[in-house]
Amino acid sequence: MEKKNIDWENLGFGYYKTDKRYVSNYKDGKWDNGCITEDSMVAISECAGVIHYCQTCFEGMKAYTTQDGHVVVFRPDMNAQRMYDSAVRLEIPPFPVERFVDAVEQTVKANLEYVPPFGTGAALYIRPVLFATGPVMGVKPAQEYQFRVFASPVGPYFKKGSASSLVLKVSDYDRSAPNGTGHIKAGLNYAMSLYPIVTAHNEGFNENMYLDPQTRTKVEETGGANFFFVTADNKVVTPKSSSILPSITRHSLMTLAQNLGYEVEEREVYLSEIGDFVECGLCGTAAVISPVGKVNDHGREIIFKNSQNGMGPISKQLYETLTGIQFGKIAGPDGWVRKIV
Ligand code: PLP
Ligand code: COI
Repeated sequence: MEKKNIDWENLGFGYYKTDKRYVSNYKDGKWDNGCITEDSMVAISECAGVIHYCQTCFEGMKAYTTQDGHVVVFRPDMNAQRMYDSAVRLEIPPFPVERFVDAVEQTVKANLEYVPPFGTGAALYIRPVLFATGPVMGVKPAQEYQFRVFASPVGPYFKKGSASSLVLKVSDYDRSAPNGTGHIKAGLNYAMSLYPIVTAHNEGFNENMYLDPQTRTKVEETGGANFFFVTADNKVVTPKSSSILPSITRHSLMTLAQNLGYEVEEREVYLSEIGDFVECGLCGTAAVISPVGKVNDHGREIIFKNSQNGMGPISKQLYETLTGIQFGKIAGPDGWVRKIV
């Protein structure tokens, strides 16, 4: 199989249309058998539930070419379960977990020419989407849905890559609500974050730090990644909240940190205490680990001294371990990588 002629090393994080995608439709109370198709367009009613009431959720994971030439996907079963949970909260008929994993596998197999070669640092980003196609006028769930998985080769999410550090702004906006949908991957959460992210970019910041919507005193996450911090005595701390997305990357990193002998704490993290941390990082499928150097809280600069100019030592160790597992250089815990070919 010959790879596509793509400048893999210089890919950014964007949509690059690949040849095949997986589609299954839900009608008359059941999901059809699903199949791989070449049609990248979606034709739906002008009154579809996704258009008016944002009845949609999505997922994101990556396929990697390993050192020994296999193609693997990182923990797709976790994304399958998270999409299942998102669907339940949005009154969307969930797509079965085993079928989700199979659809991801079929999509990657159908687009192997687009999986970036080992050593380029790039990966094939896989984007499952689940949305209401059926017409609704009153506020209620639709009767018809589509589940679709497409893929796109991607490079780093943040242009500067991992060599230099991000500068964040404490946002005055909320990305979620108490008892809302912050803990699921609903499209509506991202719609909420667009105005704040454009504002932050226009002001020269890379991202927003969102606070808890109830008290606005605790650190939550950014628009597309979770946080972790490192204390001066090498403890790895990550915010605990019912309104942040449970990141699969973060969950994996906490396990790895523990395996590496670090003490790990998932707890409420107050904005007032973050100046005491020596490293700060964003973590997620797209972000991988992206170091944060500074947070600007309404003019007050909070500096993380060990991640000011690129990753600090513990972030770096976690990064090397995680990506080592993903690219097949290190054996990970059982079941973390699913071999496709
Ligand atoms: N938080 C938000 C809001 C996200 O969109 C993402 C990306 O999926 C994450 C965190 C990181 O989650 P994961 O590590 O599962 O990609
Ligand atoms: C991901 O990391 O998969 C996401 O969905 C985050 C988004 C910013 C692209």
